[in-house]
Amino acid sequence: MAAQTRTANRHHRIIIWSLLLLVAATLLLPLIPYAMDYVDPSGTVPNPGADLWRDVRNGNIGTSQVLGVDAGVLINDNGERWRHFRMNQLIPVGAMFMGSVLALIVLFYLVRGPLRIQGGATGKMIRRFSVFERTTHWFTVGLFWLLALTGLILLYGRFVLIPVLGPEGFGLTASACKEAHNLFGPMFLVALLMMFFTFVKDNIYARGDMTWLLKGGGMLGGDHVSAGRFNAGEKIWFWIAMIGGAVLIGSGFVLDFAVFGQGREVMAISHVLHGIAALIVITVSFGHIYLGTAGVEGTIGSMVNGEVDEAWAKSHHDRWYAEVKAAEGGGENEESAGGTAATGVASPARDA
Ligand code: HEM
Repeated sequence: MAAQTRTANRHHRIIIWSLLLLVAATLLLPLIPYAMDYVDPSGTVPNPGADLWRDVRNGNIGTSQVLGVDAGVLINDNGERWRHFRMNQLIPVGAMFMGSVLALIVLFYLVRGPLRIQGGATGKMIRRFSVFERTTHWFTVGLFWLLALTGLILLYGRFVLIPVLGPEGFGLTASACKEAHNLFGPMFLVALLMMFFTFVKDNIYARGDMTWLLKGGGMLGGDHVSAGRFNAGEKIWFWIAMIGGAVLIGSGFVLDFAVFGQGREVMAISHVLHGIAALIVITVSFGHIYLGTAGVEGTIGSMVNGEVDEAWAKSHHDRWYAEVKAAEGGGENEESAGGTAATGVASPARDA
């Protein structure tokens, strides 16, 4: 009986040891290659998986059956760099840039107030912009703000709108904004060309512009500074809007029509250019809008009904005023009103 019990105990021990050995072998055997071959002198154990994915990333191994641009790129390193730039630089720096310029404008207004017409308005009006010029301007403004607002929602919406609309509401809004942005973007080319050909002749550098700039356009005090039809500040805005607009349109076309063989690299570069140009033009437009409305008394009328007070013209654009007066005998043709030298005192009902 005692002999039988001893035999049974021995069998139990054998079974338990066999099981322990099996478990140990299962756990330790796969590590043997590391111990034998892969341990480098620094003591770190390289992960064979990392080598595999490094080779895939570098394009040394891995192919795709899918045909098309970039189809063989299984891991796109620059995509991660682009994402990082968008999230950690473009978005915060753009917000700070726009916010600081807006804050400076509000501060400037609170400290300096609007620039008044020297000697007060006379009530005598003078034609400044033709119907065509104003239509061109407001058509561009409408498109510009449609694109700027939808673009800003795509860039900042997740931070600003998700807390207000919730994820579903924002999803719907963002998708509508994307469609509108993609659809109306190409039309900005038409607006920009119209703007360019309408206003370029009066936005070329002329004598006196440097003096105007050096005196800060009289915005910081002192007398009004002499200027032609557009002063140096307006000319700088014109060229920023035109060059910025050209970059926006060029890069926008690359992003909108991804069917001409442009790969992800080209798309990423276009996106970066598009974002930077948009943020610059939008921010500078704050200054233009301020000066066109609250910043300079009597200016907005020029773009609304085409006329300004004669005192406004003498104060801000004395050389243009003198040209208009000199040409007064040359007739009052409405469509020539936009020209540098051919316009006259307006009849208010002329282009109503
Ligand atoms: C709500 C927005 C805007 C307002 C209230 C506004 C207002 C004005 C006003 C009042 C003028 C006439 C200034 C003068 O008589 O000297 C003007 C001129 C002009 N605006 Fe605007 N504007 C706006 C947006 C824009 C935008 C988005 C652009 C371009 C993308 C633009 C481009 C121009 C140009 C090129 C001129 C002619 C001055 C020059 O050529 O330098 N504006 N604007």
